[in-house]
Amino acid sequence: MSAFTVRIATPQDEARVGALLSVCYATLMAPDYDPALMKTVLPMMSAANPALLACGTYYVAENDAGEVVGCGGWTPEHPGRGDIKPGLGHIRHFATHPAWTRRGIARALMARCKAEARAAGIDRLECYSSLNAEVFYTAQGFHELGPIDIAFTPACHLPCVHMACAL
Ligand SMILES: CC(C)(COP(=O)(O)OP(=O)(O)OC[C@H]1O[C@@H](n2cnc3c(N)ncnc32)[C@H](O)[C@@H]1OP(=O)(O)O)[C@@H](O)C(=O)NCCC(=O)NCCS
Repeated sequence: MSAFTVRIATPQDEARVGALLSVCYATLMAPDYDPALMKTVLPMMSAANPALLACGTYYVAENDAGEVVGCGGWTPEHPGRGDIKPGLGHIRHFATHPAWTRRGIARALMARCKAEARAAGIDRLECYSSLNAEVFYTAQGFHELGPIDIAFTPACHLPCVHMACAL
């Protein structure tokens, strides 16, 4: 099994994280979503978020060749509204390269998130899981709060699952 290391992302990772999100979402989310919906949302979902890359709590996993094969992080800010509630953290933009799944990359990224969030005084993490990722978040100790549709445009909603995990 090839090794990988986890480090804090920087704005210089924008192109590599964007490339990772594109191939990851297009490949790994496709089985659970309508193709026409994916075609519409993929360009909006797959751009790396500059604020996340600069926040210091977003991480990338690199393989031995220095390629970014995983990403994910957390923020105290709500992903849509930007508000902050004491003790609450939000999981953001997790993705593993399709050729690197089931090697513990996302688990390692989540362990880093949990450790850093705890150290920052967070006692509960929430996420909006894609339908395909629910099994991963459940394996990381998250439980379902209920279904939620994420609006990309007024006419375009992505069915997701709102989940939470006590730290
Ligand atoms: C969800 C995702 C990030 C998981 O990445 P990963 O690096 O493959 O996950 P890990 O190898 O760390 O898996 C950890 C555990 O989660 C569970 N798990 C992960 N993927 C799974 C799958 N496809 N089926 C069943 N269980 C799975 C398993 O319990 C696994 O442990 P195991 O391999 O020892 O059995 C990846 O599948 C992905 O990028 N999906 C598409 C993007 C996405 O939906 N992101 C989330 C947006 S909210």
